[in-house]
Amino acid sequence: MAASLKRLAISPKNPDPGGEFIVKGAGLESLFAAKDADPFRQAMRALNNLELQIMEITLHGVRGSIAVAHHKASQYGGNTACIEVCTDNGTRIFLDSGTGLRKAGENLPAQGEVHVFITHGHADHIVGLWFFKPLHLPTWTTHLYLPEWLEPLPDYFYQCGFFPVPFNQLKGKVVTHMVRAGQFISLDPSNSEVTAQSFDTEHPGGNLGWKIAADNATLLYSGDCEITKDPVGHKKMAELLQGVELAIVDAQYDRASYQKGFGHSCWEDWLEVTAGTDLSRLILTHHDPMTSDTDLAALDNYLASLHQIGWLRIQMAREGTSFTIGQKRLHRRSSDKIDRFLEDLTKYSSEHAVMDKFLLKAREIAQAEAGSIYLIEGDRLFQAYSHNDAMFVVSDAYLQAYKNKSFPVSRDSIVGYAASTGRSLNISDVADPQTSAPCRFKDVVNDKSDYVIRSVLTLPLKNRLGQVFGALQLANRLEPGGKSPSPFSEKQQKDCLALAGQAGIILERCLAERRNIHALLRMAAVHDPFETKSHANRIGSVTSEIYHFWALKKGFLSETIRQEKGRLRLAAMLHDLGKVGVSEAILQKPGKLSPEEKKLMRIHTAVGESILMDDRREVASMAREIARHHHQQWNGKGYAGADGESLLSGLDIPFWARLVSLADVFDALVAPRCYKNPWTFKKALNFVKDEAGRHFDPEIVECLFGIEDLLRQIYARYPEKEPMKQF
Ligand code: C2E
Ligand code: SIN
Ligand code: SIN
Ligand code: FE
Ligand code: FE
Repeated sequence: MAASLKRLAISPKNPDPGGEFIVKGAGLESLFAAKDADPFRQAMRALNNLELQIMEITLHGVRGSIAVAHHKASQYGGNTACIEVCTDNGTRIFLDSGTGLRKAGENLPAQGEVHVFITHGHADHIVGLWFFKPLHLPTWTTHLYLPEWLEPLPDYFYQCGFFPVPFNQLKGKVVTHMVRAGQFISLDPSNSEVTAQSFDTEHPGGNLGWKIAADNATLLYSGDCEITKDPVGHKKMAELLQGVELAIVDAQYDRASYQKGFGHSCWEDWLEVTAGTDLSRLILTHHDPMTSDTDLAALDNYLASLHQIGWLRIQMAREGTSFTIGQKRLHRRSSDKIDRFLEDLTKYSSEHAVMDKFLLKAREIAQAEAGSIYLIEGDRLFQAYSHNDAMFVVSDAYLQAYKNKSFPVSRDSIVGYAASTGRSLNISDVADPQTSAPCRFKDVVNDKSDYVIRSVLTLPLKNRLGQVFGALQLANRLEPGGKSPSPFSEKQQKDCLALAGQAGIILERCLAERRNIHALLRMAAVHDPFETKSHANRIGSVTSEIYHFWALKKGFLSETIRQEKGRLRLAAMLHDLGKVGVSEAILQKPGKLSPEEKKLMRIHTAVGESILMDDRREVASMAREIARHHHQQWNGKGYAGADGESLLSGLDIPFWARLVSLADVFDALVAPRCYKNPWTFKKALNFVKDEAGRHFDPEIVECLFGIEDLLRQIYARYPEKEPMKQF
């Protein structure tokens, strides 16, 4: 009874005892049916309940593998796996029985009932059980839930001589339940307020994770769990996390210490898996015994900083900490979720990051297996970003940006139609010959891949003034359990339009930043016929892709990579802005420069830096470093400013400038210049290889070779155009 009251929403919040008050929501009937119920007092109690906890979670053990008693583990705690969950209808649950369970048992009342769930039989998850107070008191009943393969476990301990007394001779009452993966258990069958559901995870010997739900609160505990690189595993875990408010998960490793096959995940993987779910809080546990408080605190701080930039709240599990969940969801509606999403989206400045998140959300609303964003450039629509669950993993989605797929802004294609008319188009089956549409299906049927598209939803993307700047295309609605694509519903079309209306404006703002940079460059290039838009796009793309390759090798978080890459792409484009300060006669000189002319040419590094001096935008600080140092060489030669002032070498040269220096020279070699003919890719690659360790940072040269195929795509996407016409 008390529990169902919590679902009530009551207004006004502080009803005047004499006045009117309204009680809404489920449980109303029982409220008034309750014996000697005073509706007003009941309502007040329900109101108070809104303030009360619905599920309280306490961490009693957060270590993995083995308990540690060292002072360096005193802050985050040395006990192994144990979590206590109490609901306010009095259900008490323990998840895992590591050494933390012994201590937790000490503080329990003299009698009661408790549910203990064991995820798997590894020692760090079970040794506390035999020392759990309720098992030694006749006044207690313990429900013990064991994965079915652990049936022999209780007796085994005595039989093998691990414990002196047989399990069945302990004084407490024990009811043992064997459970399978996917099993659903009601913990208090009288009103089924509290339920538990198991799922299996990747862990040597098996492991059952648990999802515990009470009223509005849902908790997920992974137990031991290795998230493999396999996208199916990622997807399964992301699905399990839907509707979960707080998740406590195994993150024993980071990417650097990751041991494949040991059955534990890296914290970085959880960040990827939880993106796009509606989780509010993520607790990382199963800390390695070797990880000190200092290390844990450093990571904790970093994770807290992610929360500042719009990530869900992530924390390192700390022994003794409690969390309360279940209040928020009472009031959350789906439109709140979209608002929250949009608020989050405004925090990103990189166009690729915005497109990625926007596409993911639109696909979620429309249950679309695939989707693309097209942007207008001149009189064509270029595919700028794409997801396709059937063909590639989302982490490779950015590569589609270089695929050079485009359509005219006309009725020759579905996206062209949406962009030229500003109308959305919902086609239930493009393969059906009966389908009539006001456009040709060139964009969806002429694709060379084997991917078959049936249902297509296409929406125009508009800026604040209502001008179309692109289109969003979603393909193949897949309903849960459905085998073949079904048509997009009218509601999905409406919801996606509403989302696109808002997200489109945010995206357009990001694109405007790139357009501003192009305008600056056009201004700077009035006297430099070869400094084209393509050149700037190539330098931006090549530099940011070298960085991406490098950062992946270093095991950087994909979210960090995305942010830095977006900034770098724009900043790199500005590297030669300072050429505006160099005379036309020098820039356009067909032959070799004289030493005097060279000296004047060198000024462009200092001019570029000074133009960007008062610029407070995020990209500007990076762009300043790049402008100043992009002609400095690894061996200390080169220049930054006219007279070789402030010469740096090796790792002292800012990293961003070392990246741009390689991309810039490579581009100068393969592109035509007024003073030279274009070189072949092969010749240019051989040249930079020879210069590794002399002109260039050898590690960065290696990364350039790592993206060789992508390099060719980038040059095809942004070909050298005719030199700019002179004004
Ligand atoms: P840029 O054309 O964008 O060239 C950038 C950098 O690429 C050059 O920096 C140089 O390190 C490398 N590079 C370009 N072409 C060649 C080449 O044929 N062989 C080799 N080994 N390296 C090459 P650098 O030398 O500091 O020049 C900076 C800028 O000065 C150049 O930008 C270009 O605008 C101008 N410049 C340099 N040399 C000449 C020249 O002989 N004649 C003219 N008209 N301009 C030049
Ligand atoms: C992030 O961008 O994800 C975090 C901040 C940083 O490390 O650059
Ligand atoms: C970005 O602009 O977000 C990154 C650049 C890229 O992915 O190519
Ligand atoms: Fe384990
Ligand atoms: Fe330069």
